[in-house]
Amino acid sequence: MSFYQKLFASKYDSFMTDLEKEFHPLRQELISHLEGKILDVGSGTGVNFEHFNENSEVIAVEPSPYMLEKALKKLPKKANITTYNLSVTDPKLDDVIKENSLDYIVSTLVLCTIPDNELALKKFFQWLKPTGKLIIIEHIHAGEKPRRILQNIINPVWKVIGDGCHLNRDTDLLIKEAGFIVEEEGYFKRSLRFYQGIFFVKK
Ligand SMILES: C[S@@+](CC[C@H](N)C(=O)[O-])C[C@H]1O[C@@H](n2cnc3c(N)ncnc32)[C@H](O)[C@@H]1O
Repeated sequence: MSFYQKLFASKYDSFMTDLEKEFHPLRQELISHLEGKILDVGSGTGVNFEHFNENSEVIAVEPSPYMLEKALKKLPKKANITTYNLSVTDPKLDDVIKENSLDYIVSTLVLCTIPDNELALKKFFQWLKPTGKLIIIEHIHAGEKPRRILQNIINPVWKVIGDGCHLNRDTDLLIKEAGFIVEEEGYFKRSLRFYQGIFFVKK
């Protein structure tokens, strides 16, 4: 497993180069104005780091040491970012993040990978303040039946190559089932079907 983790981390930024041309402005739009206490879930190689402003206090959680090593090189001077080499569902994180304490949770291209994504969403809900918001960019299961079936077939191999990434999660629906309310959402199609949204919590 660690072989693929290492390979995935080493190739991630170059693999994402084309998509990032589109995601970079989207990340900027969704993240750059956020202020307060923020969780960056599964920071990966630290692609979101440059977008956090000086009025944010960011907890960046990343379980892969290979990804984290790359992210640490992208730590900007202006933002206040503390990194943790943990899974977001690790109970140790409850010592760091208290219930109703976060202003924002930023989860970009991560809910496809977190093994227990439903537990993660439950924790997101608990950790956010009643005024807090969840910011999402994600790829989700295709809309058309033939592509859905194809993605189900490819998924076991994809998961190995993509270090746990699933092609066939209906994350857009899961977020709403977890109790989040849509403030804005959008779907867009590239090589995969993508979903972007801002959600608030109703406590
Ligand atoms: C596709 S990368 C996305 C990285 C980054 N957020 C981005 O927008 O490019 C998915 C990341 O989620 C991380 N991850 C996997 N399981 C996780 C978990 N249980 N908790 C937090 N992060 C996790 C992976 O190690 C990987 O770095």
